[in-house]
Amino acid sequence: MTEPLVWQEYLELVRMIRQRIELEKDSAGAYVFDEDPSRYRKRMAQQVTSVAPVAPVNPVASPKPVVVPQRTPALSDVTQTNSEPQPSVSKLSPQVVSSNPAFPSIQELTQQAANCQKCKLSQTRTQVVFGVGSAQAELVIVGEAPGFYEDRDGIPFVGKAGQLLTKMLAAIQIQRQDVYICNVIKCRPPENRDPAPEEIIACRTWLQAQLKALEQPKLICAMGKFACAFLTNIQQSMWKYRGATYEYEGVPVICTYHPAYLLRNLEEKKKAWEDIKRVRRFLDESRK
Ligand code: URA
Repeated sequence: MTEPLVWQEYLELVRMIRQRIELEKDSAGAYVFDEDPSRYRKRMAQQVTSVAPVAPVNPVASPKPVVVPQRTPALSDVTQTNSEPQPSVSKLSPQVVSSNPAFPSIQELTQQAANCQKCKLSQTRTQVVFGVGSAQAELVIVGEAPGFYEDRDGIPFVGKAGQLLTKMLAAIQIQRQDVYICNVIKCRPPENRDPAPEEIIACRTWLQAQLKALEQPKLICAMGKFACAFLTNIQQSMWKYRGATYEYEGVPVICTYHPAYLLRNLEEKKKAWEDIKRVRRFLDESRK
């Protein structure tokens, strides 16, 4: 017997609501059901009008000595180290030569980094995980360090945290392939421990050169305390990083939780969702 139309409609409605709930849970956004939709829309509209593309550096931040001192990278930082023989730019094939001859391109840097021996992690890694994505990306994601799957595949953010990152991006209508993704350090720390200060220092010239090689980044999203400290030059708690817009070498920086942290602390997803929506708004604003 065919179901009455109204019953079919009812079932369809339930199915859609279920789907939506699952999507919101998955995309770090259980928030939607926390408040009345009309209040939510009003709040969003207010936020959109009040967000300036670049807010001043967090006024409540109290700068402390930072793990990673920053300075403009010299080419020699990238191409010369104590021990590692680096291919010179002229030895690289023509198609990977940078459009700006003063700085290596992403492809050149990737090749150079592949043999990096600047720290002890070179002895335990499977391979260097330099970065993935387009050099023309508007949005750059900077995470912490490769984990097991990234070390195995040579691509950042492919494990569970990476899958959550992909969902977070999809929730703001951004495809992973349109973003440039990299980490503060390029080799996996054994047992996925935190990067050591000397590893961050040894690796910093790669990230500095990498960010310089990107052609038109409009926004960097720093995920987790190591990326936030590196890119803001400030060490502080995540709640202090969040909400402000910083600047790294002229590129605005928004800070948020690391996806791996969100997998362990589901209650923080709501805040991360707020941050990721700021990323969306910022990119939209920057197009106007
Ligand atoms: N965590 C990171 O910070 N980066 C990765 O690439 C994977 C997990």
